[in-house]
Amino acid sequence: MRTDLTSLADRLRAIGCVFAEDEARLLADAAHDVAQLDDMVGQRAAGRPLETVLGSVTFCGVTIALHPGVFVPRPRTRFLAERAVASCLARQSSDRQPPVVVDACTGSGALAAVVASRVGGATVLASDVDPVAVACATANGARYGFSVYLCDLMDGLPEEFRGRVSVIVANVPYVPTGQLPYLPRDVREHEPLRALDGGTSGLDVFGRLCRAAPSWLAPGAVMMSEVSPAQVPQALAVLEGAGLAPSAAVDPTSATAVVEGCRPNR
Ligand SMILES: C[S@@+](CC[C@H](N)C(=O)[O-])C[C@H]1O[C@@H](n2cnc3c(N)ncnc32)[C@H](O)[C@@H]1O
Repeated sequence: MRTDLTSLADRLRAIGCVFAEDEARLLADAAHDVAQLDDMVGQRAAGRPLETVLGSVTFCGVTIALHPGVFVPRPRTRFLAERAVASCLARQSSDRQPPVVVDACTGSGALAAVVASRVGGATVLASDVDPVAVACATANGARYGFSVYLCDLMDGLPEEFRGRVSVIVANVPYVPTGQLPYLPRDVREHEPLRALDGGTSGLDVFGRLCRAAPSWLAPGAVMMSEVSPAQVPQALAVLEGAGLAPSAAVDPTSATAVVEGCRPNR
């Protein structure tokens, strides 16, 4: 809608929005009328993430619908997404058949959407334990072509894919419980605890996924997850303990790590 962007930016700055000019433009584009714009500004004043107020986010060039109460995909997760796509394409050319990919802990379905839109012919499955996330991911799955399951990690995915999965990609919750109080207020108050809390070391969910993965992976296939750089040594040990050949890569730009575990060929 048409509005005075300068005064809208002033309002947003006054409620603590740092990138007020950018937000003013995005909110004005998204709102249909003054009442909706006022409501959106009110939501921002209450600390709701901009992406949830707008109802969508662009992640790796893909537009993802975002419902309230669902984890907002972070720009740093691009590193994991790019590695997952590269791994799928490599498997596709070596196996000469489209890969089967699982996005465990899918949230909005952002990673599944990127893989489904960039890896032609892939069968993409996604899981989440939170019904609110599953509803959001299902909407994105209908647009980008992946199936979503309400289940605990791999437990509940169709059995026909056991032992046939080429890539498991997961942005698991990995914040150590003791660090949750230090997250920004809008994250603590508007994103679900289950999306963040990784237990005492931060690697509880990751560890469970590592133990579940081998029976789902095809020989030579890989699981990969985002962790913090400080968690890499412990994460590699967990992967090794699960019988997977571990490796790690760190993106210096975003200070994000991806750990990978390959199921041996025999
Ligand atoms: C950090 S968010 C990541 C969401 C999405 N992959 C992304 O990068 O935007 C973690 C997600 O894992 C889900 N989750 C937590 N424990 C789970 C479990 N045991 N099984 C499946 N999903 C789980 C949460 O509900 C949340 O949506």
